[in-house]
Amino acid sequence: MDVREALYTTRAMRRVKPDPIPADVQARILDAAIRAPSGGNAQSWRFLLVDDPDVKARLAPLYQDAIAKLWQTAYRERLELAAARPDDPESASLLRVQASAQHLADHFESVPLFLLAFARGDPSGGSIFPAVWSAQLAARAEGVGSALTSVLGIFHGEEAMEILGVPPGKGWTMACCVSFGYPSGRWGVAVRRPVQEVAFRNTWGTPVGFEITEPLWQAP
Ligand SMILES: Cc1cc2nc3c(=O)[nH]c(=O)nc-3n(C[C@H](O)[C@H](O)[C@H](O)COP(=O)(O)O)c2cc1C
Repeated sequence: MDVREALYTTRAMRRVKPDPIPADVQARILDAAIRAPSGGNAQSWRFLLVDDPDVKARLAPLYQDAIAKLWQTAYRERLELAAARPDDPESASLLRVQASAQHLADHFESVPLFLLAFARGDPSGGSIFPAVWSAQLAARAEGVGSALTSVLGIFHGEEAMEILGVPPGKGWTMACCVSFGYPSGRWGVAVRRPVQEVAFRNTWGTPVGFEITEPLWQAP
């Protein structure tokens, strides 16, 4: 796959089929992930693949409680506003993300594979998220969808780490939990605010010098 196609179309793919992901595909995803950069090439990371139904069944209630807490806390105000104005495009987009994220939580146990990423001595996440994103891009190249999630670690990290047997007191923190599965929907180009709204040149606020009205990669 053209690298640009992967970059443009690796969306949060939360609606997936329960079909297992073959071991050779998993191996290619992880082997690509660990090629990513980390500060000083420290590679202070661990990756845990979870496909055991018993482990998923133990994590699922924690994940579901975490997503409920997310709606009640950080997202509460925005969701209330969106519910009051559902036709507003921004509201509609937020409500779509919520429905999709809730779907993942509700179907947690039927997601075939999770990758949990752990980091140590990396408070910014700058040395773990390149590897996580590489895993997602590598999965995309295999036709496997993924969704990076952080709610489990935020609200129930300690309980989840205990279930997963992460050694306590060694400084490991759960950076994220990424779901993987063959998509039930279609791939599409990620919708984002255009470059000129979020990028400057030389000094903050100075126009970057180009206007991009359509994504520069299009499906052939
Ligand atoms: C740091 C980070 C944390 C995220 N946490 C969650 C999460 O807890 N649950 C979830 O469903 N999606 C989560 N996402 C996925 C985002 O919601 C998603 O990337 C964003 O809505 C863009 O989706 P799109 O690529 O399909 O347009 C997270 C993404 C990032 C980068």
